[in-house]
Amino acid sequence: MDGDERATIEDFFAEDRSFPPDDRIRESALLTDASLYEEAEADFEAFWAAQARQLSWFEPFETVLSWELPFARWFEGGRLNASYNCLDRHVEAGLGDRVAYYFEGEPGDRRTITYAELLDEVSRCGNALRSLGVERGDRVAIYMPMIPELAIAMLACARIGAAHSVVFGGFSSEALRGRIEDAEAKVLITADGGWRRGQPVALKPNADAALEGGGASVAHVIVVRRLGEAAPDTAMKEGRDLWWHEVVADQPAHCPPEAMESEDLLYLLYTSGTTARPKGIMHTTAGYLTQVAFTHRYVFDLHPETDVYWCAADIGWVTGHSYIVYGPLANGATSVLYEGTPDHPGRDRWWSIIERYKVTILYCAPTAIRTFMKWGSEHLEAHDLSSLRVLGSVGEPINPEAWVWYRQHVGRDRCPVVDTWWQTETGAIMISPLPGVTTLKPGSATFPLPGIGAEVVDDAGRPVSRGGGYLTLTRPWPAMLRGIYGDPERYTETYWSRFPGRYFAGDGAKLDDDGYFWLLGRVDDVMNVSGHRVSTTEVESALVDHPSVAEAAVVGATDATTGQAIIAYVTVKAGVAADGAHGEELRRHVATRIGPIARPRAIIFTEDLPKTRSGKIMRRLLRDVAEGRDLGDTTTLADQSVVEELRSRAAEQPAEE
Ligand code: WT7
Repeated sequence: MDGDERATIEDFFAEDRSFPPDDRIRESALLTDASLYEEAEADFEAFWAAQARQLSWFEPFETVLSWELPFARWFEGGRLNASYNCLDRHVEAGLGDRVAYYFEGEPGDRRTITYAELLDEVSRCGNALRSLGVERGDRVAIYMPMIPELAIAMLACARIGAAHSVVFGGFSSEALRGRIEDAEAKVLITADGGWRRGQPVALKPNADAALEGGGASVAHVIVVRRLGEAAPDTAMKEGRDLWWHEVVADQPAHCPPEAMESEDLLYLLYTSGTTARPKGIMHTTAGYLTQVAFTHRYVFDLHPETDVYWCAADIGWVTGHSYIVYGPLANGATSVLYEGTPDHPGRDRWWSIIERYKVTILYCAPTAIRTFMKWGSEHLEAHDLSSLRVLGSVGEPINPEAWVWYRQHVGRDRCPVVDTWWQTETGAIMISPLPGVTTLKPGSATFPLPGIGAEVVDDAGRPVSRGGGYLTLTRPWPAMLRGIYGDPERYTETYWSRFPGRYFAGDGAKLDDDGYFWLLGRVDDVMNVSGHRVSTTEVESALVDHPSVAEAAVVGATDATTGQAIIAYVTVKAGVAADGAHGEELRRHVATRIGPIARPRAIIFTEDLPKTRSGKIMRRLLRDVAEGRDLGDTTTLADQSVVEELRSRAAEQPAEE
């Protein structure tokens, strides 16, 4: 890429607050010292083998790892079933009456599902799929709202040895069709629709559109009746479409699980890359289950007998796969499952859910936290949040101020915040604190977990011991992607070619004097200002550090003199004036906090930022707006109106300096 002398991303933003593990957490924590790190460093394969033995095996594995870079095979020779590990073994251990999910629909309907009930439902669904001709090795597409049947369908696939491919319910019919065709799915499981912001949102018409003129591999569509009367007439195609309650309910509640091989495909999950064609990320059975169970237990310090855990992501993303379905169920945890938005019927919906179910562990995204900051802390204050013990964050870098706000207002200064770095491709958490062990620094994901090898390198691939560079992974890990479905070359090229022998998936990071990892965002988002590489994350954190700012997105726009100029889109907290004088103050604030090089050329105030449906800020779009370009494809945008608004504001912005 570049020469050696201009090696890394510069590192400006210094955060000096730190929080040692709280005594309250340490009293009961699963881990309070570094012993697990030491054990894993001594022999990482033996360490993962010990974790894998926590699962129930039909046949024990013979080898731990075979590694032919970049292809890993974990726990070969073993046989197991993911749904057996998530359900049967808990029921057999006498825990059938433990609650697996407290489901809360957006309209307020509630359902409590025990492990025994979940096993019954999964078995019926597995039998229904078998009756429709789905066999071990087939693929099943799932396109559903956040309802229990989504988890049931996934586990039913795992039970009979079919791989699921969940397509997020907010995606379009074209996106669904492309994914169905790539995976050649035999069956599609969907619903008439779901609830969002108080409105019924139909899904079945999208599924129909996806299968019109495409998706020929799909022989049957199973449709859950979620909306019922509220759905506009749900058309059912004779011979193809079946209602869930008709095809599943009458099946026997006994469905023998397939004895799968460790490396059998558990699921595909498509992520968009730099090109238009989404990548079908492949996850297999034993390694994936080992690492999601391990991380879910230790990162959240899970006590399954007493904790009530809530991951507020959508199951349609990897966060939901790993930390709503497989990790928590493998650990016998009790989870909350919530269908809808955080502001329906009021902006305190999350806090009322936490109060009602006495949630002890909350896992959510920085975008949600920054939204709550914008709405103001009064929405939390009326609720009893004293059950909370551990708070987690995932999906984007969490700005130090958002971290501190989360700790203070949600955690009432008593809960550790674990910032967890990972990706669809890594399958499970890779870099994160451990609540009873790690001294936290706001905004840092701290250290690689036991067993994980991570290093920051410069342009030439040389490890950096302090400062900014590229985050790479130095050894295989059990939950790693096994490839891109149908395209092994693209796998090697995308992840293993930039730095030979290392996995690199596009994030910048820096190491501080104490060896803490700080994520700096995607390297495509790094700006180049007068020859300095400035991370968007650092400038955003400096902006959010100002008491008036709730959220900020920073991009580099082409500039004749400086190469790129920093343009900041800023959302202020309720009641703050968004005027020119305030913009000036924010520019000064960034210059003071980071240095004059990082002073934004323009501040554009906006009520909302364009985000993907998983909550990531779309900086590409903002760059296009800043440079006055045509916006191209905006289909992954969650709210189309945001961009128009921004465009008109950017046009109003006077040229500066
Ligand atoms: C990308 C992966 C991981 C599940 C949800 C997203 C960013 C994720 C963090 C974090 C900084 C983070 C990275 C990563 N990211 N977690 N704690 N700190 N950045 O999965 O859609 O595959 O996205 O999300 O840029 O590469 P994904």
